[in-house]
Amino acid sequence: MRKPLIAGNWKLNKTVTEATELVSKLKNAVADIDTVEIMIAPPFTALSRIADLLQGCNITLGAQNCYPEACGAFTGEISAELLKDVGCQTVIIGHSERRQLFNEPDNFINRKMKATLKAGLTAILCIGETLQEREDELMFDVLTTQLQAGLTGLTAEQMQKVVIAYEPVWAIGTGKTASSDEAQEVHSFLRGILQGTVDQPTALATRIIYGGSVKPDNIDGLMAQNDIDGALVGGASLKAGEFERIIRFQ
Ligand code: PGA
Repeated sequence: MRKPLIAGNWKLNKTVTEATELVSKLKNAVADIDTVEIMIAPPFTALSRIADLLQGCNITLGAQNCYPEACGAFTGEISAELLKDVGCQTVIIGHSERRQLFNEPDNFINRKMKATLKAGLTAILCIGETLQEREDELMFDVLTTQLQAGLTGLTAEQMQKVVIAYEPVWAIGTGKTASSDEAQEVHSFLRGILQGTVDQPTALATRIIYGGSVKPDNIDGLMAQNDIDGALVGGASLKAGEFERIIRFQ
């Protein structure tokens, strides 16, 4: 019912030339796959070129961030409208690096969600607790707040274009990953919150993907869990072979 989504978040990596090379390899490697939705989010500078390369293939294009206003005097910012114009179908919103390094609060993230959906794009809402919050047993409170605040004001219809990414901050880029059981516990909890916040059909239909040091050697265990509907992959999405293996989870 929920088609798995494997999404690559390239972060601040790859020149246009490097991006082109990686996408050329990846396209060939995964051309036969239609049971998994595959998305990559290169840096802004490579989007136009990669959109051309992905024409007619089974990999969709995403961006790593957007600004909530459509246009205007916002020097240095990029809107969901402009991302759509360049060929993006998806925007990653509220990544923990943006929350922490760029001080993005929940209400700003909610505005980005609304702008992305208004532009007709899919929004991946990232949420996750820090190690301190987990140790202080605040994890479920923090996740509830981030989830509900990020989704404030969205209709059940808009939710059809929302994906939730649970990314424990302590697992991102650290090589530490939540065990598949730990991740499943959180995903199941989040589905329950969605049920209370929106409705049951939406909770059952919404994909909740996991992120944080996802690698070829842990993807199978994660994907075997009932409530894990895919992965948001950072480091391992920068190598065609590793990303292909993740996409071909068993
Ligand atoms: P990682 O990053 O796979 O390198 O841990 C995941 C993410 O930040 O989305």
